[in-house]
Amino acid sequence: MEIKIKNLKKYYGERQILNIEEMFIERGKITGITGSNGCGKTTLLGIISGLDKEYSGIVTYNGIKLNKEIINNMTIVFQKPYLFRRTVYENIEYPLKVRGGDKKENKNLVMDIIKRLEIEDLINKKAHLLSGGESQKVTLARALVFKPKLLLLDEPTSNIDPAAIEVLEREIIRFNKETNSTIVIVTHNMDQSKRLGQRIIEM
Ligand SMILES: Nc1ncnc2c1ncn2[C@@H]1O[C@H](COP(=O)(O)OP(=O)(O)O)[C@@H](O)[C@H]1O
Ligand SMILES: [Mg+2]
Repeated sequence: MEIKIKNLKKYYGERQILNIEEMFIERGKITGITGSNGCGKTTLLGIISGLDKEYSGIVTYNGIKLNKEIINNMTIVFQKPYLFRRTVYENIEYPLKVRGGDKKENKNLVMDIIKRLEIEDLINKKAHLLSGGESQKVTLARALVFKPKLLLLDEPTSNIDPAAIEVLEREIIRFNKETNSTIVIVTHNMDQSKRLGQRIIEM
């Protein structure tokens, strides 16, 4: 999915937060977005995700405005992982469940992504009891499991250890290669955006 943004303006009260004349996010690539604290990266992702509708300007996805089908084909991973008070398995299964699909087939997909993210030992744990790094892995697993065409990641590796970062970065790259999905990753870590991003946008 490619994204085009034109004349995007966003205010909180009197304060202008975003003023983007033009931005283009290429289909099938990993785009890194960097910029200082408070420059509006999270706000921008919120708008692209469709959660924030309070803005002026135009955002299109493959040339068309946001609709239900597009929403069904994208997902956002927030900086602070949000998981249900259920098991890790149930959390990861959830996006497949809401989209229908055969229970057994869903199970294969969930088990596959669990293996990839090396979280087999967490399957039956309650998600709200996990550590920061574990939560980030489960959150990414839940995002990848239904193979979104557009994946929005807001600093998905902040505050976690290097070993977990390595696994997350590896799986983000692998997902992009295997599915040709479009990925936007916000990071204030320049090294990370160089490692992952095929294009980097400095805000
Ligand atoms: N709900 C809100 N109400 C008012 N101001 C906000 C709100 N959310 C964010 N802001 C402000 O908007 C600016 C951009 O925030 P944000 O998009 O979170 O920046 P970044 O992710 O780049 O650090 C910041 O100055 C922040 O304080
Ligand atoms: Mg932010």
